[in-house]
Amino acid sequence: MKDKVVIITGAGTGIGKALAFDLAAKGAKIVLNGRNAERLERVQKEMTKQGHTSITAAGDVSQYADCEQIIAKTIDAFGKIDVLVNNAGLTMEGDIEVLHPDVFKKVMDVNFLGCVYPTKAALPYLRATKGNIVFVSSVAAKHGIGKHSVYAASKMAITSLVQSLRIELHDTGIHIGLIYVGFTQQDPEKVQFTASGHEEPITNRQADQRIPIPVVAGKIAKMIETRQRSSNYSKLGRILAVVQWFAPWVVDLVFLRAYKKWKG
Ligand SMILES: NC(=O)c1ccc[n+]([C@@H]2O[C@H](COP(=O)([O-])OP(=O)(O)OC[C@H]3O[C@@H](n4cnc5c(N)ncnc54)[C@H](OP(=O)(O)O)[C@@H]3O)[C@@H](O)[C@H]2O)c1
Repeated sequence: MKDKVVIITGAGTGIGKALAFDLAAKGAKIVLNGRNAERLERVQKEMTKQGHTSITAAGDVSQYADCEQIIAKTIDAFGKIDVLVNNAGLTMEGDIEVLHPDVFKKVMDVNFLGCVYPTKAALPYLRATKGNIVFVSSVAAKHGIGKHSVYAASKMAITSLVQSLRIELHDTGIHIGLIYVGFTQQDPEKVQFTASGHEEPITNRQADQRIPIPVVAGKIAKMIETRQRSSNYSKLGRILAVVQWFAPWVVDLVFLRAYKKWKG
């Protein structure tokens, strides 16, 4: 990773932030993106203290003009782009019947268009370096989930986007990685969309038995370094992938039971 220029969307908290430190420790130059500029500056200060090279490029990845600015700032600072990690994403909670109609659009805008737009804006530079694009998806991309319908749909859409990109970018030398992450321990600042469409802290997730954030970050770093194509990074995801193959109705049942348990 020495001297590789890496843009990480959603790098102010959680997996993106941990990945920034992981890759910077290996010598990469990091571009920290997120909407909250103050938080990004705090992360950058922390990185500088540890002797790492980074800049901030605040912006909303669901706005194409912001993505062009993120790319322009990166080129101004470092002259090239080696890696784009499409990590920014927000979840939601609520049955389709009770969700405000805006929630569907907001989640698709951030989770799906928020991958399309940075990718489109960065592509000319990634062609030049034969770089990497990594998409941070979820086990939710494997099956619809009660109470998290549009989150699951947005992550499934990323799978289709990746398949199309792999066809269009065949022979360019660009690596496209897709990681399906399971539930991780969450950053204290993590928020989600409520049924009314507001971003609020997540308070009802338990930390036990969840994957530690730095472990997930390490897995993504390895995906970049080894140019790994795809990774199903959760025990549940791996089991479901096998069961779905020969008994899809069992998977339906697992998700139905989980939904009933959530409902209480
Ligand atoms: N944690 C899990 O259990 C889990 C499981 C599976 C998959 N994932 C996926 O992993 C990724 C990271 O999740 P995480 O748990 O680390 O979440 P997180 O802590 O909530 O981080 C998400 C980051 O995205 C940024 N963001 C949100 N909307 C944005 C926008 N429009 N433009 C730019 N940045 C935006 C947020 O910063 P600002 O508010 O400053 O914009 C935040 O720093 C997500 O794609 C998520 O779906 C997470």
